[in-house]
Amino acid sequence: MLAWYDRHRRDLPWRTPPGERPDPYRVWLSEIMLQQTTVVTVAPYFDRFVARWPSVSSLASASLDEVLHLWQGLGYYARARNLHACARAVVEQHGARFPDDVAGLRTLPGIGDYTAAAIAAIAFDRRAAAVDGNVERVVSRVFAVREPMPLAKPQLRALAASLVPAQRAGDFAQALMDLGATICTPRKPRCVLCPWREDCAARAGGFADDLPVQAVKPERPLRRGVVFWLQRGDGAVLLRRREEKGLLGGMIEVPSTPWREAAWSEDEALSSAPAKTKWTKLPGTVQHGFTHFRLDLTILAATTDAPPEGIWARPEQFKDYAFPTLTKKVVKHALSVLSD
Ligand code: ADE
Repeated sequence: MLAWYDRHRRDLPWRTPPGERPDPYRVWLSEIMLQQTTVVTVAPYFDRFVARWPSVSSLASASLDEVLHLWQGLGYYARARNLHACARAVVEQHGARFPDDVAGLRTLPGIGDYTAAAIAAIAFDRRAAAVDGNVERVVSRVFAVREPMPLAKPQLRALAASLVPAQRAGDFAQALMDLGATICTPRKPRCVLCPWREDCAARAGGFADDLPVQAVKPERPLRRGVVFWLQRGDGAVLLRRREEKGLLGGMIEVPSTPWREAAWSEDEALSSAPAKTKWTKLPGTVQHGFTHFRLDLTILAATTDAPPEGIWARPEQFKDYAFPTLTKKVVKHALSVLSD
C-alpha cells in the first residue's frame, strides 16, 4: 500500500513533500476543512487561509468575523467557529503547539475521533486509524463485511486499526483516503488497479460494488419558513445575525419566521414580521438542503418609511458580510424577482 502511495499519491495543497516534516497547523486546518467537504472544494479555501494566516498564532489573533468571512461558501459554519476557538485554545493552553497524540487532540474544539486520529497520524506519525466513510468502504470490501451501516461501524473501526502499520502511519492514512477516492470508489471500483486486489475478499467474491451495505435512509423532512425582505428608501435591506448556538450560528440572514414542517398562513407568518406594513408575496420559493431536513422559503417583500433598528445594508455592500449559502440564495432570488 505504501509503495502504491509513493507512486500514486495525489498532490494536494496540504500535503508535505516526502522527507519533509509536516506542519501540524496545516494538517489540522485541512482536516477541519475536509470534514464533509470534497478535496476540490477545499483546495482554494485552504490556500487562501494559509496565505492570510500562516500559523496557528496568526489565526488565533484574527476576529471570528474575519474567519467566518473567509469561510463563506464552505458550509457547516460551526466548523469555522470551532476552528477559531481551537486556534485560541492551542495558543492559550498549549503554548501555540498542537498536542501530539489522539487523546490530547480530542480535547480541542471541533476535533472528534476521526480528525484526532487523522492529525495524530499525519502530523505526528502516531499509529492511529482515521476512519471516515471512504475508509469504511475500503475496509468493508477487503474483509467482506456484510453487516449494514451504521451497525457495522465498530467492527470496521477495529479492522481498520488492525491494518495500520508501525511505520509511516500518516502516509498510510492518506494512502487509504486516496485509494477510497480514486480506486475503491462507491460504484464501479477499479479493482484491477488496486494494490490490495489479491487480498480483497469482496473482489474475490465479485461483490465489491455492493459494499458497504447501507441501511435504508428515511427521507429528510421538509421545513418551511417565510422571509421578510424589507427595503428602506435608500435601497438598504434589513438583515439580522442568527443566534450563536445552533445551525448557521452567528451567520447573517434575512429576517424570517422560524422553520417548521407545518405550512404558514399569512396571518400567522406576519406575527414574526419586522414591520407592520403591506407585504407582497414574491413569486417562487427558495430551496435549500441541510443534513437533516430540506427547507422551502417563501419571501414577502415590502418597503418602509419607518425603518426598525437592525443591520441595514445596500445590495452592493452585501459582499462585506459573511453570508451563508442559504442567505445568498434568498438574496439572489429576491433581487432577480424585484428587478424584473
Ligand atoms: N480527506 C480527509 N483528509 C484528507 C487528506 N488529508 N487528504 C485527502 N483527503 C482527505
